[in-house]
Amino acid sequence: MNDQENAKKYAGEASVNFIENGMKIGLGSGSTVYWMIRKLGEYVQKGLDITGIPSSHQTEAWAKQFSIPLTDFTQTQKLDIAIDGADEVDRQWNLIKGGGGALVREKVIAAAADRFIVIVDESKMVTNLGTFPLPVEILPFGWEVTSSRIASLSGKPVIRTNPDHDIVVSDNGNFIVDCDFGAIYDPKTLNHQLKQLTGVVDTGLFIQMADDVIVGYPDRTEIQS
Ligand code: 5RP
Repeated sequence: MNDQENAKKYAGEASVNFIENGMKIGLGSGSTVYWMIRKLGEYVQKGLDITGIPSSHQTEAWAKQFSIPLTDFTQTQKLDIAIDGADEVDRQWNLIKGGGGALVREKVIAAAADRFIVIVDESKMVTNLGTFPLPVEILPFGWEVTSSRIASLSGKPVIRTNPDHDIVVSDNGNFIVDCDFGAIYDPKTLNHQLKQLTGVVDTGLFIQMADDVIVGYPDRTEIQS
């Protein structure tokens, strides 16, 4: 395993220490979350009684692989904790998320949780957001119009495609545009402006939603609360 993967593993596994018996847990998405789910599966095997709501089809598959009991929002509308990765974390703990395309479900889950824990390797900690292009989920209908309205906010949107050049469809049946806004100095205002555009479902900007950030390094973790 390389240093970055080790750092992800440290961060993901450390987050499981925040989980207590009886909790309802929001399960984020991505490769750092994979390590959290794997470790959580070990605790479940030893008798930890929890249920999780997955934020993506991939996470659901991993949760099933590691025998984590799942539930959904028809059964419960409140989560004790949500644990998720991020593509960038700034100094005010604003996030860019959505590199894996699960930003909308991830945001619904984070908003439903009493405590939102972010797990990242050290490379994700930045001074200003924006080096990572901002994912924005948009409706397929009229996506070209929505995309050009995002461009008028100086976002340089690029429709997300797979290696075969097919447009990627999110778990919600929508499209994602990855937008280069340059350095984002006022993420709250940008999030608001984007959400006001008809056709935008949600953005990958998570504005001060995080309660704790667990930063993984190749040989340790640092917990910021
Ligand atoms: C998926 C996400 C992920 O949490 C984000 O892309 C980080 O992924 P990884 O842990 O693989 O670096 O937002 O939509």
